Formats: sequence, C-alpha cells, structure tokens
Amino acid sequence: MKIITRHFDEPKLHELAVYRGLGGYEGLKKALAMSPADIAAEVKKSNLRGLGGAGFPAGMKWGTLPPQDKVPGPRYVVGNCDESEPGCFRDRVHVQRSPHQVLEGLLIACYAVGAKEGFIFIRGEYGRQYRVLMAAVKEAEAAGLIGEKILGASFSCKVMVMRGGGTYISGLDTALLESMEGKKSWPRQPPPFPTNFGLMGLPTVVHNVATLAMLPHIVAKGGEWFAKIGTPKSGGTMLFSVSGHVEKPGVYEFPMGVTLRALLQAAGGVTKGRALKAVIPGGTSTPPLGPEHLDLPLDFDSVRAQGSFLGAGGVIVLDETTDMVAVCRDIISFLTHESCGQCTPCREGSVWTKTILERMLSGRGRPEDPALLERAAGRITGTTICALGDTVGIVLKAYLKKFPEEFKARSSPEGERPGMEARV
Ligand SMILES: Cc1cc2nc3c(=O)[nH]c(=O)nc-3n(C[C@H](O)[C@H](O)[C@H](O)COP(=O)(O)O)c2cc1C
Repeated sequence: MKIITRHFDEPKLHELAVYRGLGGYEGLKKALAMSPADIAAEVKKSNLRGLGGAGFPAGMKWGTLPPQDKVPGPRYVVGNCDESEPGCFRDRVHVQRSPHQVLEGLLIACYAVGAKEGFIFIRGEYGRQYRVLMAAVKEAEAAGLIGEKILGASFSCKVMVMRGGGTYISGLDTALLESMEGKKSWPRQPPPFPTNFGLMGLPTVVHNVATLAMLPHIVAKGGEWFAKIGTPKSGGTMLFSVSGHVEKPGVYEFPMGVTLRALLQAAGGVTKGRALKAVIPGGTSTPPLGPEHLDLPLDFDSVRAQGSFLGAGGVIVLDETTDMVAVCRDIISFLTHESCGQCTPCREGSVWTKTILERMLSGRGRPEDPALLERAAGRITGTTICALGDTVGIVLKAYLKKFPEEFKARSSPEGERPGMEARV
C-alpha cells in the first residue's frame, strides 16, 4: 500500500501536467468544495500522526488553534523540510520527485485552518530540491493553483519557500520560526506552542512536509479509508529512509505498523548476509533496537513501548561488526556540533561526554567512565529548553544499557586523568 510514493517512478512527476494527469490537485479541488470544519473532521478521523518526529495527532494540533473569531487576523502554515536528522532523507526524495504533492497538501492545510499564506522551510543544503520546489511553485501560480481565487473558489493563498541556514536545530518548530523571522535559530520555551504563538507571534501550524502530503489523499478518499490502512492509533503509511548495513538502502513506504523484519526484507536484508546487531528506528536521536525486535510493529506507540521512538522513520541498520561505542560517540559528536548553546547542560554536557567517549575509543578509558557517562546523561535530560539536550542524555543511557560489555571493554583500568570528571 503506497500513498505518497505511488507514482514516484514516473520520470516527470515533478511537472504539473504529469502530476495533474495522475489525479494531482483533485484533493485540493474537493477540499475547496468542503467547509474547513469538515476537512478538520476528516483529518481527525484519519488518525494522521505528525511524521516530523513526535507523532503528535494532526487533528489534535489543529484543534489547539485559537478560534478565528477570538483571534482574527493572519495565521500561517509552515511545511517543515529541514530534515537534518542523520539517517533521514525521505523529505529530500519526496520534494524532488513530487513537489506538487507537498504544495497541494500545504494549500489544503492553509484552507482548513484559515491561513492565506503558506511556507515551506527547506534545509539550506537541499539546493537542487529548492530549485525543483520553486519551479513547481511558479508552475502552480501560473495555473491558478496558488494566488488569488484558487480554482475559481473564494480562497486565496500565497506560498513562499525559505531556505534554512544549515543547522540541525532549525528543524525544531520553534527554532525554525525564529529562523524564518531572520533571527538566530534558538528554540523558544513553550508554552505557548506555535499554534498560539508562531510565526511573528501569530497562530501557526507547523507540519512535516510528509504529513502535509497525506492531506490530499485523506480529503480525496476520506479519513476512514486512511485510518484503516495503519494501526488503530496511527493511520496511513510511514515513509522510511533505510540506510546503513542493508543491501538496498532507500526510501520505503509501508503502512504504519509494518514489522521491522518486513522492512528489512524489502531493503534486501543485512549486507553480505551478516548478522544484525542493532537498528536505529527513527534517526540517530532514537535509542537502538535489537534483533529481538524484528517482529515489532513500526508505529509510534509500539516503538515507544520498547523504549525508543519511531521519530521521522530514519532506519539505520547496523551489522555484527559495528562498534557501538563508536556509534554512540558519532551521535554525541553530531549533537555537540549542533547544540545551539542556549542551555548550559546541553552545551557543556555534550562536549564533556563526547570527550569521555573519545577517550574510551582512543584506548585511554577508565573503569569509572561508563558510570560517569551515566551520571552526566542524567544531568542533561530534562534540564534544557528543547529536546536536543534530552537526546544527548537519552542516547547515552540507551547505548550504555544495551551494550554494557562494549563500554566495559573500553574502560581500561589505567588511564590519563585530565581532571574533568570532578566537574561532571
Ligand atoms: C532537535 C529537533 C530537530 C527537529 N527537526 C525536524 C525536521 O528536520 N523536520 C521536521 O519535520 N520536524 C523536525 N522536528 C520536529 C518539529 O519540532 C515539529 O514537531 C514537526 O515539524 C511537526 O510536524 P508534524 O506535526 O508533521 O510532526 C525536530 C525536533 C527536534 C527536537
């Protein structure tokens, strides 16, 4: 069952004529004949969960917008295509192959929530995808799909595409909004959440571009149809970016709740017939699963129940030869580099723990290092404005818990003492 990627093999799907020839913009046409409240009701029925990472129900998010009679004036929808989480690349493929699907979803969301301006915030490094998206916007404008009185209806909407500055934190909704406002992309401390205080302080719905792209299909075929495809609490499909030690890395679309085993099979299995050691299910911020989880349904709640997160579906497969201390170090190094520096526990804690991991990997580990990492992890999670800091602690704890022998093997009895542990 494919929804988003169904026509991805069409060579010129990015062109408006080809997209329309395959039924594109029919969802928008139908939406404009419905009331915004009816669209919101279909989205609620669909059990669509936000695909940007947290899996928050889309219908519930829209429900937190202040009523327009109480807060009149502009409100916005922003499509998040920042996609900087290591292991995630599906938004890049999606925007490049089917930019109109994203635009159609954005326009439906704007109509449904009463926005007259929609934005796509695209990762700065995605130059080619930006150009494809801009060409699609121009084509849609020329065809009367964006702009005044869309498809002859009373609905008018502008679409703007903004490029990110190349930081991971810009993908976090509140940091993204700061960046769009031309400021340093430092996360805001919610509440208030963006639906009440978003772009320029106005009500704003931020959705991942894949979430938006589900909307034309929900409108066209109904919320119930969509809900039946996935699990009882996660409707529809998930787009997985599969990478690492697999024979056929790539973007795979499966109904929510597909097992890890089926996904791995589709990706050709572990490379060279090696044994599986671990699978990172949702991008490097998410704790690793093991071979014992092969029959785990991949949906937001099932993965969470096993102590990890489905995140944005960035599945990284690691075979038996993988050094898990090195993997942990690589992830913490990334987070250290991307910490915005606003909160001390994240800014300092990520550097300290990275230094300890590097010490362990260079053969100078100490017996107390695993416990030191554990203690530091406990002091970072829950003490920062945004989830990046939490992630440092969550990742450290997860790897220490799942691979204690590997950490122990790196903690040699003799080692240098740079005097850092007293501060940690
Ligand atoms: C550090 C961090 C980075 C994030 N990066 C992205 C991103 O690149 N793309 C994205 O859609 N969501 C990202 N998110 C989640 C967004 O804050 C937000 O929840 C999401 O865009 C909402 O869309 P959804 O409702 O479709 O899930 C990130 C969150 C955190 C904590």
